[in-house]
Amino acid sequence: MKVFLAGGTGAIGKPLLATLLAAGHHVTGMTRSTANADALRARGAEAVLCDALDEAALRASVVAAAPDVVINQLTAIPRRLDPRKIERDFALTNKLRTEGTRNLIAAARAAGASKLISQSVAFVYEPTGRDELHSEEDPLYRSPPKAFKRTFEAIEQLERTTLDAHGTVLRYGYFYGPGTSLAKDGSLAEQARKRQLPIVGGGGGVWPLIHVDDAAKATLAALDGPPGVYNIVDDEPAPTREWIPAFCDAVGAPKPMHLPALLARPVAGGYGMLVMTKAEGATNAKAKHDLGWRPDYASWREGFRKGLG
Ligand SMILES: NC(=O)c1ccc[n+]([C@@H]2O[C@H](COP(=O)([O-])OP(=O)(O)OC[C@H]3O[C@@H](n4cnc5c(N)ncnc54)[C@H](OP(=O)(O)O)[C@@H]3O)[C@@H](O)[C@H]2O)c1
Repeated sequence: MKVFLAGGTGAIGKPLLATLLAAGHHVTGMTRSTANADALRARGAEAVLCDALDEAALRASVVAAAPDVVINQLTAIPRRLDPRKIERDFALTNKLRTEGTRNLIAAARAAGASKLISQSVAFVYEPTGRDELHSEEDPLYRSPPKAFKRTFEAIEQLERTTLDAHGTVLRYGYFYGPGTSLAKDGSLAEQARKRQLPIVGGGGGVWPLIHVDDAAKATLAALDGPPGVYNIVDDEPAPTREWIPAFCDAVGAPKPMHLPALLARPVAGGYGMLVMTKAEGATNAKAKHDLGWRPDYASWREGFRKGLG
């Protein structure tokens, strides 16, 4: 198939490009920089220089590539996030998820592409307080934490726009592996080595995790699967009290500190506290059933030992 990949040079874009090319697809990767365009060509893709926020240029680029499939992996998330400044840190990503997605879908339509896939996240389900994993039918945040409101609205809009166009939404778990913050050289490893990645309160926040290579393979499977929403997470969403010590161990950091919730709140803010203590996991049953996909790293336990780069 001919694939137009927006975001083919990023954390998920790189392994996805390799996976698509290895499967025999013809890929046009989009980037804003000539250096990244050269890198795309060196890996075996066509490259097009374009900014997703330039509607006319994007339309012309996608139409010229004449793809069967358009994949949206556009984000611009800082490598190190400040949980108290989520609005600031996600401002550009919000724009890409709303305006960028709208532009890309209009361009895909103009180009006559038959399939559309967009990147979303598996960690915005409305918490229930029950010890169950969320499926795709479960409601998303009804009242998101204040600091996360705009980011959440942008995610919702991206999903709605994609589904209205009969596309596929992949709700990835938290990425780990090369190029992400959860890598041997990633920003969370650096924080862990400085003992700045503590277990907050009881460490009950459950994270759905996914290795970027497994996320790439799920995206490949989605090319042939039915449109819809899929959680792309591993088999073992885990509370922070379990995965943080294992991550510290895997990156050669000392054991994490335990920080009482009362002391953590001023540093972590409302959103940080939710993520560290109350977040809930998601199930990959639908992706396994409908896409025939299985993560190679069924659990982050093995993925952290072998796949952090
Ligand atoms: N589910 C998750 O956990 C999740 C999801 C996304 C990101 N992250 C994390 O966030 C961090 C940063 O990753 P990232 O993927 O956001 O950043 P990134 O690795 O820099 O990739 C962003 C991609 O989007 C493209 N892009 C950004 N703005 C664009 C624009 N205006 N027009 C065209 N292309 C544009 C970039 O292309 P060029 O720069 O080449 O132009 C690049 O290919 C990583 O630690 C990653 O793991 C996590």
